[in-house]
Amino acid sequence: MNRSRRTQTTAMPAIHSSLSFYMKPLFLSNSSLFPRKFTVPKEYLLNPRSLCALSSASNQNGGRSGARSLSPSPVSDDLQKIDVNPPKGTRDFPPEDMRLRNWLFHNFQEVSRLFGFEEVDFPVLESEALFIRKAGEEIRDQLYCFEDRGNRRVALRPELTPSLARLVIQKGKSVSLPLKWFAVGQCWRYERMTRGRRREHYQWNMDIIGVPAVTAEAELISSIITFFKRIGITASDVGFRISSRKVLQEVLRCHSIPEHLFGKVCVIIDKIEKLPLDVIKNDLKSAGMSEAAIEELLRVLSIKSLTELEEILGGAGEAVADLKLLFSLAEKFGYSDWIQFDASVVRGLAYYTGIVFECFDRDGKLRAICGGGRYDQLLSTFGGDDIPACGFGFGDAVILELLKEKGLLPPLNHQVENIVCALDHNLQGAASMVATTLRGKGQSVDLVLESKPLKWVFKRAARINAQRLILVGTTEWQKGMVGVKILSSGEQYEIKLDKLE
Ligand code: HAM
Repeated sequence: MNRSRRTQTTAMPAIHSSLSFYMKPLFLSNSSLFPRKFTVPKEYLLNPRSLCALSSASNQNGGRSGARSLSPSPVSDDLQKIDVNPPKGTRDFPPEDMRLRNWLFHNFQEVSRLFGFEEVDFPVLESEALFIRKAGEEIRDQLYCFEDRGNRRVALRPELTPSLARLVIQKGKSVSLPLKWFAVGQCWRYERMTRGRRREHYQWNMDIIGVPAVTAEAELISSIITFFKRIGITASDVGFRISSRKVLQEVLRCHSIPEHLFGKVCVIIDKIEKLPLDVIKNDLKSAGMSEAAIEELLRVLSIKSLTELEEILGGAGEAVADLKLLFSLAEKFGYSDWIQFDASVVRGLAYYTGIVFECFDRDGKLRAICGGGRYDQLLSTFGGDDIPACGFGFGDAVILELLKEKGLLPPLNHQVENIVCALDHNLQGAASMVATTLRGKGQSVDLVLESKPLKWVFKRAARINAQRLILVGTTEWQKGMVGVKILSSGEQYEIKLDKLE
């Protein structure tokens, strides 16, 4: 916008009576352009409120609970008062929350772009079979699944990884490896609700398909840390716990536990912090492990240092080699202080085969912020050829809780550059023309659509954080001009419409 392009003012005729009080200083002068300034109440020039806070607190325990019925409710002609809350565990996104979501997703997208990833997406509704694995995962029991009208078993996706695997198989040899794909998508899990855990959430996923080396995991962790730094989270706020499922594989192999039990054992161990130890031991026994194997496994899981792990497993195995390489790469990337080895991390999804990691807030108040790992054999479980793969999922809910806790939520206001108002209802068409001209030049415009007193217009301008008020008055318009007021400074002038930038 070129503020210096002013033109000469001329006298104004009488204007709409309801506006005259506010407009007289501007339009009834015949001596100079704007001899007196608009008297704009000071508070209208300031942003009246900060819209930064995510108002999800009000949503948090909201949602319907109530009785459920398996068949649709009968349609009735009577007026029914509906429950205005969204279904339990789901969220509305009113503008202030939507601004925050867009800000978060923009950062997800920007970080993915910085790392050279391409965006993909999949349907929220998938075939149920895609998510059914035999390992007894929690996610299976949390599935939103049903039969569609064509008698197909379908499910709302609880995660994005199986869909990604499906698409990679479908693309086959038409894509060149490695693939570096990211997605931000809504996932559904019938979860027990805790802070940051809901029945609907969004996940940012980044996956690398076609790289067997640990360099891929190191790159993925680097991207998450890049994201944290962008949004003001530091290594003293969060930390990654990293291990490899190959650690367990080596223990199981020593005790001659069949390979096919591996996923099941991992899923049982993942619950170690949630269930009593006796229950875990019993479950491992039922899965076919001997007492000696269970004791050995639990001993290994308590290890928190790589040196100790190497002393127990020896240095020749892949588990130790992979982890050592990852930690040395972390030094080169410069994020050693963000990560630590912790053998108890195994993750709750059956398909992981190598390095696994989870990120937690250091105060231990929240559930995992993100998690991921290597899943080299997922594709063959869907009938495809295996391709080495690894990735992570990063939810939107826990990170927002953490940002709130740390006072790091950004102040995000609604912002429209211009507010355009006709000073007479006969000029509504002219005001539309002004708005269209500005929009054509890339400027955002809130067009006042009804006759409103100027007091109302100023209030609205403050609410939408407008930078300029453009007034369309009869006399100016006859000369092809409009009145402009810069709302931050109070500066005002008239300008030809075609000069308005
Ligand atoms: P996940 O650990 O099940 O992994 O989920 C990843 C992240 O999604 C969690 O760390 C958390 O931030 C978020 N999340 C999961 N469930 C909920 C929930 N009910 N409410 C709020 N947030 C939630 C996976 O889903 C893997 N598919 C990730 C992956 C991608 N592995 C490889 N590539």
